[in-house]
Amino acid sequence: MKILCIETTCDETAAAVVTDELKVLGSVVSSQEKLHEKFNGVVPEIAARAHVERILPVIHETFAKSNLTLQDLDAIAVANTPGLSGSLLVGLVAAKSLCLAGNLPLIAINHLHAHVYACQLDSDQPVFPCVGLIVSGGHTHLYQYDDPINAKYLGGTIDDAAGEAFDKVASMLGLPYPGGPAISKAALNGNSKAYSFPRSFIHEPRLDFSFSGLKTAVRYAIGGPGSSDLSGIVLDEQQVADLSASFQQAVVDCLVSKSVAALQQTGLNHLCVGGGVAANRVLREQLQSRCEANNLHLHIAPLELCTDNAVMGAIAVERYKAGLFEDLDLDIKPGLVRH
Ligand code: KG4
Ligand code: ZN
Repeated sequence: MKILCIETTCDETAAAVVTDELKVLGSVVSSQEKLHEKFNGVVPEIAARAHVERILPVIHETFAKSNLTLQDLDAIAVANTPGLSGSLLVGLVAAKSLCLAGNLPLIAINHLHAHVYACQLDSDQPVFPCVGLIVSGGHTHLYQYDDPINAKYLGGTIDDAAGEAFDKVASMLGLPYPGGPAISKAALNGNSKAYSFPRSFIHEPRLDFSFSGLKTAVRYAIGGPGSSDLSGIVLDEQQVADLSASFQQAVVDCLVSKSVAALQQTGLNHLCVGGGVAANRVLREQLQSRCEANNLHLHIAPLELCTDNAVMGAIAVERYKAGLFEDLDLDIKPGLVRH
């Protein structure tokens, strides 16, 4: 069985062909990073327009790489939730058109669950049932998975996503976009204890996150208490490194402690972590040591599958096997679906 998976939820236009044995026959990701970097974040209208220009070339290239045509496929899958409305629409319309042209069934992908499924793609043992931590530019959520399809929302950020906090703090520190890689690089030479930043909810049982207070604390550390305008403030390299390391450690502490709490509360012993921030080296190392200490099995998406891609859309294979197909009036659901 061969499925074409399409991913356009945010600012990557991506397609991949995967098989029921989870082999990747071809994968293409066209990143829009260059288009958005001068705005220090994704501009939805620019993202949607870029998807329109790129979607057909990306699909053609995926067919060429896989050495396949539409006639060789068994289904078309597309991420229709959650994400930016305009971006999601481009992928969905492309998928529906291919279904009509090839008389193929349509499969819906939840982008968040696909991020978690990236861990299954990297493992020859089943990683489900598990707790899934999705930590990206748009999302920071914990789900309980009985299997790849049945998920229960456990908690998540009540304001900024972790990646968004990395991006905004990077901009305050004069570091480039995307902020995650820039902050983790600057943090290499910094002292993570130089500043004591808040870790919201860390002593509470609730499985939620909040990063806006942390962001404000970094702002005040840069500009002084109550500061709102950081223009004209020049930080030296060591200050940037210390602020980066201390901020990163605060985020990592929250992510690690809530993930472990989610495992303890659910009684599960497998943790799967996906999304762009899962590429963070300090997070990966500290999750590893906490899981080892607690006899928990940790699965982190391989680096190339942390940021958005269509290969993780292989979760569609599970839906195909379960007979979960969609009508062609399937719509986008931009907001978070809590299941
Ligand atoms: O999953 P993703 O590609 O897109 C969304 O679905 O949001 O995640 C992008 C986010 C950005 O906020 C970026 O700063 C963050 O992932 N990121 C990182 C690292 N690499 C990417 N954050 C922390 N450390 C990293 N090494
Ligand atoms: Zn994502």
